[in-house]
Amino acid sequence: MTVTTIERLADHIGETVTLRGWVHNRTSKGKLHFVMLRDGTGYVQCVLVKGGVGEELFEQVSRAGQESSLELTGHVEADERAPGGFEIKVSDGRVYQLVEEYPITPKEHGPDFLLSRRHLWLRSKRQWAILRIRDAVITSIRHFFDERGFVCIDSPMFTPSACEGTSTLFEVDYFGEDKAYLTQSGQLYAEASAMAFGKVFCFGPTFRAEKSKTRRHLTEFWMLEPEVAFATLEDIMQLAEDLIVRIVGDVLQRRRRELEALERDLSLLERIQGGFARITYDEASKILLEHPGSEFVAGDDFGAPDESILSGLHDQPVLITHYPKDIKSFYMKEDPANPSRVLCMDMIAPEGVGEIIGGSQREEDLDTLLASIAKHKLPKEDFEWYLDLRRFGSVPHSGFGLGLERVVGWIAGIEHVREAAPFPRLMSRIRP
Ligand code: 4AD
Ligand code: MG
Repeated sequence: MTVTTIERLADHIGETVTLRGWVHNRTSKGKLHFVMLRDGTGYVQCVLVKGGVGEELFEQVSRAGQESSLELTGHVEADERAPGGFEIKVSDGRVYQLVEEYPITPKEHGPDFLLSRRHLWLRSKRQWAILRIRDAVITSIRHFFDERGFVCIDSPMFTPSACEGTSTLFEVDYFGEDKAYLTQSGQLYAEASAMAFGKVFCFGPTFRAEKSKTRRHLTEFWMLEPEVAFATLEDIMQLAEDLIVRIVGDVLQRRRRELEALERDLSLLERIQGGFARITYDEASKILLEHPGSEFVAGDDFGAPDESILSGLHDQPVLITHYPKDIKSFYMKEDPANPSRVLCMDMIAPEGVGEIIGGSQREEDLDTLLASIAKHKLPKEDFEWYLDLRRFGSVPHSGFGLGLERVVGWIAGIEHVREAAPFPRLMSRIRP
């Protein structure tokens, strides 16, 4: 008995194989059962004919509702009209569990209903497609950095200090002594790692107590953060662009079935070939100020509607650079040509998706950094270790952070990032 998976069926045409999975749906007509089986790797139609299988199995399958678990053995036939291109003519099998009323049916359910049943919702075809795309994005990222000689050095999740402003910190009780927080970004530790290993990245969960219920915000999300010693802003902009081109290319190649299941317009992804537009904050501001309907206020950070306008002007992601120092984080390097600006970049994805990457060259001068820490009213003692990086062999260096769920959401073409996380954590949701 050959046990295989649906994604491997092409290797078994004309053979008899066993598949194990769950009933996605079933229709029965007299002497026939059509079971759409899913096994996590794909979907395939299995046909049971009365008399062609044991009586008990035929009878049990007639009662097998959605998500009943079973094993089916049958002949693999290539059939162009069948979804996925194969059909199984079943000769044998067994039922693990018959399910009669599965709570998530093919009819429309509201997001709250589905989110409360996320542990089951994961089995839906749409979620299957999105989370397999997420998996391919992660693999692509790891390959990309490995091939370029980066070393993965992960940052801690418990931290004693803020990295991205103090307003979105999750405080945790750390044995009642020091205050501790869940990390907002692994960057400061990645900088230390870059001074030890040259080219590094960290990739893990990050936390923000975002009191905003937007379609772009999670309270727990995964961030990829490369950090490169001796790199300039220019260097990491190129790195970010190469990475995005690579990720989109890999997903188009490895997850085409899933993109099609989501009815994603592939032509929009096929355009992502590199040569992203680069504009400064001042140029972007000018565009927004002249844009009818924009509520942008000169000098402010861009809001979601502003990013949507800017991204709508381009087919590919656009890089916005040189933001005002006042609205950006303390560690960003001042632009030597204009001290009111910093050497930073945000990458804005097309189709109104907005920011997917934020990065910068880092301030490497001890005194300038000290002044910046004071200006942001951050407790200097907590940053002593970080300041050591500017005391002992300081060099220019740069890095960025990529929000995994935002990238997956963009590529998958979904409305809300919550579907890009297996078990999303939102302001109003921590269960299941
Ligand atoms: O722009 P951010 O805040 O940058 C940093 O944290 C830097 N320390 C990164 C670095 O330079 N190493 O966040 C980086 C990215 C954003 O561009 C966005 O894609 C994502 O993280 N992000 C979120 N994704 C989902 N939910 C949220 N609440 C997010 N906040 C940021
Ligand atoms: Mg940002």
